[in-house]
Amino acid sequence: MTAAATAPSSSPPGPGPGPQVEGDDIETCGGVKESRQAGTSAIHPSLVFIHLFSLAFLILVLTAQFFLTDIKFHYSRIFSSHPFSRTISSPPAVIVHEPVCESPQPFPTAPPVSRVHTMALAEETKRITAQFEYTDDDVNKGVQEFLRQMHEGLDKDGTSMSQIVTYVTGVPNGTEKGLYLAVDLGGTNFRVCSINLNGDSTFNLTYSKVAVPKELMVAKKAEDLFGFLARQIELFLKEHHEEHFEASIRRRQTISAEDGYEDEEIFRLGFTFSFPVMQFGINKGTLIRWTKGFDIPDAVGKDVCALLQQEIDKLRLPVKVAALVNDTVGTLMARSYTSPGKTSTLLGAIFGTGTNGAYVEKLANIHKPITGEYNQSTGEMVINTEWGSFDNQLNVLPNTKWDAELDRDSVNPGIQIFEKRVSGMFLGEIVRLALVSMLKDPKISLFRDVNSSSNDWKSTTTIAKDSGIFEQWGLDSSVMSIAAADHTPEYSILRQELENELKIYSASKEDAQAFKHVSCAVGRRAARLSAVAVGAIVLQSGKLKTDEDPIDIGVDGSLVEHYPFFRDMIYEALAVIDGIGPEGAKRIRIGIAKDGSGVGAALIALVAANMEKKDSADRLTTVKEEAVRKLSNVIPGVGEKTTLA
Ligand code: GLC
Repeated sequence: MTAAATAPSSSPPGPGPGPQVEGDDIETCGGVKESRQAGTSAIHPSLVFIHLFSLAFLILVLTAQFFLTDIKFHYSRIFSSHPFSRTISSPPAVIVHEPVCESPQPFPTAPPVSRVHTMALAEETKRITAQFEYTDDDVNKGVQEFLRQMHEGLDKDGTSMSQIVTYVTGVPNGTEKGLYLAVDLGGTNFRVCSINLNGDSTFNLTYSKVAVPKELMVAKKAEDLFGFLARQIELFLKEHHEEHFEASIRRRQTISAEDGYEDEEIFRLGFTFSFPVMQFGINKGTLIRWTKGFDIPDAVGKDVCALLQQEIDKLRLPVKVAALVNDTVGTLMARSYTSPGKTSTLLGAIFGTGTNGAYVEKLANIHKPITGEYNQSTGEMVINTEWGSFDNQLNVLPNTKWDAELDRDSVNPGIQIFEKRVSGMFLGEIVRLALVSMLKDPKISLFRDVNSSSNDWKSTTTIAKDSGIFEQWGLDSSVMSIAAADHTPEYSILRQELENELKIYSASKEDAQAFKHVSCAVGRRAARLSAVAVGAIVLQSGKLKTDEDPIDIGVDGSLVEHYPFFRDMIYEALAVIDGIGPEGAKRIRIGIAKDGSGVGAALIALVAANMEKKDSADRLTTVKEEAVRKLSNVIPGVGEKTTLA
């Protein structure tokens, strides 16, 4: 403290006469500062005596205290071994026999203190993650095989990658307009939406979503599922388009119309059906096989548009199924409608529950026959690759024992092999199987409390009997996203998630670390495998050699949207592909096409409606020409005879 100003000694504020000390500030309880004043004065002899006496007394007291303490220490040591002993220096202790709270604070304030990763767990985690490594070399081998299987699928039917022709021969440019209905059956949910295309690359979308009841996913008869879908369309129209639902404009049965219905004032509906379908027209296609947990054998081989139209007609709804769309085709169309700049989109891809891609291929490269009508003027057609089934024969794809186990226990063993290593429906299960094999090994300390008992939460790791970790499909891939995103030093977010989602209580930091490493290895492999598909299609397009524009790719799906750095990991792998390299990778623009399938389906319904108009205009022209021809036969030329054909 600094010295305060000096004041006259005549008015000392101190308690009495005494040595004057240098002025000092003293903080009082009230925070007010008193000031001692500095000064000088002569020392009285009696004061010297008092000081000496006080000093001697102080020394005496201190010496006595020292001896007493020593005695107390010795006594306590001697008496403490005696059952009836008491220390002599303190009153008897009162022992309360009540539960004792070891942690007096309501919540622990310090993070758990963990030991270093126990060796067995660390080693085993390393051994497991190494098996999910997918090297640059693997990526390049994958691309070459992908290109080979793509060509095979363009040459003939019945190959592992179906390369389905879609009859969509152009992509939109953003100027399209109109109100359309779209429905989307792609996995666990069924969505119904109406889309207003505004013609300026924007749209308005109203939608409702309902979970598909599990029993309908494996129903006996196709009409059980499709009847349910039609009823959802009815509910949606009642709720959002009452005006179109009025009895006056319901579809009217009429003998004059070709299909028996008057098509005035009805909704054109784009049907996004995200399963492999052999298409033979813009609104016609037979189901090849079910994927993603669906299994209704009755529907296989049937035209899914007709199945839906039948159920719609039973309810007499003002709706015509105008276009059959795979979600990837919808994503491609939607991205093209909304994407910035003039570049048309090359590829629409889904990395969600399932994975697949649709791209624009030159008609000249499609060697298998395309039956039915389509517009040839663009020289292109959108191909639905069904890349989920790339390399079902396992020529190049990685196949750990957990991949094999997952496939063996799935509803479709030997099929969708690429999808089973890439998409959200399966990744969690791969992680789960790898963790279970660690759990089964008694030498591995995963979730065994070896670590957590040594931390200061004094908790015990427990896994509930009904934890998802013990159940097939019990580990949702969303936990992997949480794991990848948790960069907290103690993995507290992930550990909380393990409790909430998997009922694994009080996992240690090391458990969480092991979980994260395995999970990230599986996620990273999935992203690099995705790059194989994307990279192969970019190479197939030849765009890197010719165009200067960015190569535009629209993607959708929970994995690419929510898994941290999924796109970055794809880019990283694209940069190592021969023929792409870091420069090529920079030219590839991967953008999210949110809700792509709905908007895309509307756009394809629009294309279909235009085709219908053109069709009827063509038909009208043909009728007119025919009439003119007949009339010209009727009206004879000079000196000619006439007959009616
Ligand atoms: C499955 C389906 C495919 C769909 C993909 C993404 O792979 O077979 O048609 O596009 O999932 O939903």
